[in-house]
Amino acid sequence: MDDRCTAGDSGARQRPRRLPTLEVATSQLMVYLRDPEVSDQRVLSLLQLDVALSSTVLAVANSPFYGLPRRVDSLHQALRILGFEALRNLIYAATIQRLFRQGRICPGFDAKCLWYHASTTGAAARRLALHVGGLDPQQAFLAGLLHDIGHIVEIQMDRDAYCSVLEQRDEAWLPAEVEAFGQDHAALGAEALRLWRFPDWSVELVAGHHAPVAATRPDAALLRVCQLADSLSGSLPGSFERDLAPEALGACAAALGIAESRLDTLRAQVLLECPPI
Ligand SMILES: [Fe+2]
Ligand SMILES: [Fe+2]
Repeated sequence: MDDRCTAGDSGARQRPRRLPTLEVATSQLMVYLRDPEVSDQRVLSLLQLDVALSSTVLAVANSPFYGLPRRVDSLHQALRILGFEALRNLIYAATIQRLFRQGRICPGFDAKCLWYHASTTGAAARRLALHVGGLDPQQAFLAGLLHDIGHIVEIQMDRDAYCSVLEQRDEAWLPAEVEAFGQDHAALGAEALRLWRFPDWSVELVAGHHAPVAATRPDAALLRVCQLADSLSGSLPGSFERDLAPEALGACAAALGIAESRLDTLRAQVLLECPPI
């Protein structure tokens, strides 16, 4: 996969930085996943060559927050039970999960906090999709899982710069990212997903996850679900919440017509699925 440079345009501090790339085998798999002509068996045989990714796919499928009604013991079984589209989403989810293994970022901050936020946002989005109706719960899970991938991109681009942004909170967060990286994590995450050949819908969703949702967007419902799940996860102990506006939770719930009492139930369900780490 080719590298791409990105440079900020908002200050003298900026210097060209490379977006991180995926491992070669994973990049090849991403190409196949976007090919409408590829057979499911071809994808499966390529996936099996990557033992680590294969085991992560199964771990995601069997994690409580993915919500499968029964255990999946092999990739063939996953394909047979879930179908190719769901397997494809699982491969994307597993690829994202591996990227979150960054360890301690700086004193007092570990990437586990970001992973907990990603997985609980995914779990909440899946449940919200079921509640709202008309959405694919597994796509919603994936949306929640990858919405903040831009944070990982920033960490891989310049860990020190990311640590300086960590001093900011709430409304000050996104401008601090623009100052440090030239773009915020929504834009960088979208750019990275495009580079990694993730689905177009995921690129659009990540790019818009901190923006007001235009009702005319074809993905408005999914984006609102993702934004509400993001805010709800941010209210859980040990989750990442520094890039969220404090009033976002109520605003998102109101936009989706979800009552505060329903949010309390959802929060308890997600905590049960994903105990704080
Ligand atoms: Fe975010
Ligand atoms: Fe988030």
